[in-house]
Parts: sequence; C-alpha cells; structure tokens
Amino acid sequence: MKVVKNAQELPSACAFVPTMGALHAGHGSLFTVASQYSDDVVASIYVNPLQFENKEDLEKYPRTPERDIELAEEYGVTHLWFPTYEEIYPEGFPTLTAGPIAALYEGSSRPGHFDGVVTVVRRLFDLVKPKVAIFGEKDFQQLALIREIAAEVEIVAAPIIRENDGLAMSSRNVRLDPKGRIAAKIISQALRDSESEGELRSILASEPALTVDYADYIDEKTFLAPTEESEFTRAIVAGWINGIRLLDNMAVKSEKK
Ligand code: PAF
Repeated sequence: MKVVKNAQELPSACAFVPTMGALHAGHGSLFTVASQYSDDVVASIYVNPLQFENKEDLEKYPRTPERDIELAEEYGVTHLWFPTYEEIYPEGFPTLTAGPIAALYEGSSRPGHFDGVVTVVRRLFDLVKPKVAIFGEKDFQQLALIREIAAEVEIVAAPIIRENDGLAMSSRNVRLDPKGRIAAKIISQALRDSESEGELRSILASEPALTVDYADYIDEKTFLAPTEESEFTRAIVAGWINGIRLLDNMAVKSEKK
C-alpha cells in the first residue's frame, strides 16, 4: 500500500472509498466491495469541517491515523491519501447545495450538513477521478444525495455492517460509555423486530437511555411517507445515547408496509 501526499500520485479510473478515518470493519467491507471493481483501491481520510455544524462534534471526532494506515493495508487498500485542507479547499473553491431531500431528517437536525458532504465529495471526485465510488447504506440519505451530484462516477451502495449485538458499525460508537453501548442495541433490535412504524417507535421508547430524533418509514426515492406507488420502503432511525448521535436503517419488506 502507498500512502500518497497528493492527488496527482493516485491511479486514474480507480475504485474510491472516501472516509473520515477512525477505520473499522464497516469501512473494511467498503474496501472489499471496491476491490471487486478495480485493482486500484483508493481511500481518502479527511475529516471535513464543512459537514460539521457543531464545533464540539468536529473536535471530538475520533482521529487514529496510525491505526488507520495499518487497517487500510489489511483491508486491501492500495493507495491511501490524507488530503490537506488547502488541497480540498483552495481559495474560491466551489460550494454545492445538496438537493431538496437534504432539508429532511439528518438535514433538518443538522442544518448545512449535506451541503458540506456534497461539496467535499464533489471536490474529492474532481481530484481523484474515480471510475466507481463506494458508500455505506448506513448513511442512507447521504448516499441518495451523492447520487445526484456525480453523474460520471458509478456510485455503489454497500450494506450496513453490524456488531455481534446488531449495532450498526460507526466511528462514533467508541464514544459510548459501557451502559450506553449496551443500550444502543435497541435500535437494530427495533428495526428487525417491528412490523409497523408504530411498533418501531414503541420498541425504541422502551429504552430510557435513547432519545429518539426520528423513527419513520419512508419511500426510498423521495424520503417522504410511503404511498401506493412506492417501490421500496425503508425504516430510518436516528437518536442520541450519551449525547452521541446514532443512525440506522433497514429495508421494510413489502408485507410490513
Ligand atoms: O460518510 C462519511 O464518512 C463522510 O460523510 C464522507 C462521505 C467521507 C464525506 O466527508
């Protein structure tokens, strides 16, 4: 694996996985998917200040560069790139505004978040020029918005990777205290065991450590309430435990709609 200093050293037409580091097995699965598309698996590690509306969240975001280099190598990354702020955001860089879906759910709780995400992803794509880019389904809304800004890159969705108790893997999980970590399994349990939106909410309400932000069924295309025309419905959940924001989602089988 090569650790590269700037984007010019990257192979073109690669399979690309942008990350914010603090790598875990969830990222590992994205790298594995990437390796099915190209022999050149490029990963970037850049904690993007533009997508943090909360300064404390940005400061506390875990940063583990040495461990990330080891793990990236183990997971089959061929080129690892740590961009600098100046490289991503030169003077006068173009900022993007994410599509209307950005106003809902994560966007409503985190104003400006998705503008920051699409701006950095567009910059990363312009610099890396990948053939394919892989994103996790865990950030389901992010995935939908990225599809809108990158016609020339094939966007591949990779399934959520879970801990043994079902908790969706996330770099933020390490910030949960031991009790919070145990409580956090309620989210995937509720998604798995519920048969309706009402049931999803009532299972989540049974865990006092969890403050629910939203627990909804949505049409995967519009992010609005599912209708007769909806092809795919997804249950999406966000909430806080120990002040740590946790996200998860699951496809709703048609008989549950
Ligand atoms: O999902 C993430 O880790 C980030 O939002 C991304 C896509 C790397 C952009 O900073």
